[in-house]
Amino acid sequence: MEEKLSYTEAIQRAGDSFSRFPLIPIRGVPLMSYIANNWESIWAFRPDPSDILIATYPKAGTTWTQEIVDLLFHNGDAEACKRAPTPVRSPFLEIFSPPPIPSGLDYLKTMDPPRIIKTHLPFQLVPTGFWENKCKVIYVSRNAKDNMVSYFHFDSMNLTQPEPGPWEGYIRKFMQGELSWGSWYDHVKSYWIEREKKNILYLFYEDMKENPRREVERIVRYLDLSVSDEVISRIVELTSFKNMKENPMTNYSCIPAPIFDQSISPFMRKGEVGDWRNHFTPEQSKMFDEDYEKQMKDVNIPFRDII
Ligand code: A3P
Repeated sequence: MEEKLSYTEAIQRAGDSFSRFPLIPIRGVPLMSYIANNWESIWAFRPDPSDILIATYPKAGTTWTQEIVDLLFHNGDAEACKRAPTPVRSPFLEIFSPPPIPSGLDYLKTMDPPRIIKTHLPFQLVPTGFWENKCKVIYVSRNAKDNMVSYFHFDSMNLTQPEPGPWEGYIRKFMQGELSWGSWYDHVKSYWIEREKKNILYLFYEDMKENPRREVERIVRYLDLSVSDEVISRIVELTSFKNMKENPMTNYSCIPAPIFDQSISPFMRKGEVGDWRNHFTPEQSKMFDEDYEKQMKDVNIPFRDII
């Protein structure tokens, strides 16, 4: 009989089969080889109409939003939401890792809907069942410069992602869409363009930081939930950066150092808007802005704090 391992045990058992995986393009989008090699089963996934999809470009506020939605589904019960680490409570649709770590699809099979599903796939790679079944989809976007800074630190500490290399070169890779999950520009645009037709709730990290309560209330309305003011206040408090950083179920301490080396950079790093100013030189910022104008000229997405 197959041995039943906890998430952390499975990761530890996988041991040194981890490495920085190469990227393989799927329909032009570079994805980690483990994902690309299992693409057919990911693409074939059929959600339940009640499932919720939380979609983001990596590092835009995924974990924060997963926690808010799980707490909303549990009426603000902090203990219930400490039942397991984030990736077990809210599976990562496309993730595949070396055995014996269960894939996102394995976790989904064991859960009853409504499930809170995470994805970093751009709109065109989201399995079509989500749209056919009219699933609710929350998209969170974050301004390009802060998003890139956060991704740079994450790629340093996540030892399954390609080496970030020096900062200057990383900016170029970001602008050219060469990082895992592809172009930030295409990603944020792909959901923006479809948001009305597909009834996608499109949120901004900067709005969540400015007024988390307002954004939690927006999620409540979108999901048609009935939650008291007091519970909303509790959820806002439980999902503050400080509380999530200290919570072992949300701070990714479940993933051991050979994979996430939090001594290089913590998963819950700074949680701020405008940290890009501590990374970009004025010349880099100017060069980035000029390119941004060109790449974003066909849409008017109200990103803030970018200049
Ligand atoms: P920083 O690296 O800028 O600190 P994701 O969950 O999509 O991987 O995003 C991670 C980013 O969101 C990190 O950004 C992390 O610190 C930030 N984050 C996570 N929880 C947060 C919270 N409750 N409030 C603000 N930022 C949060």
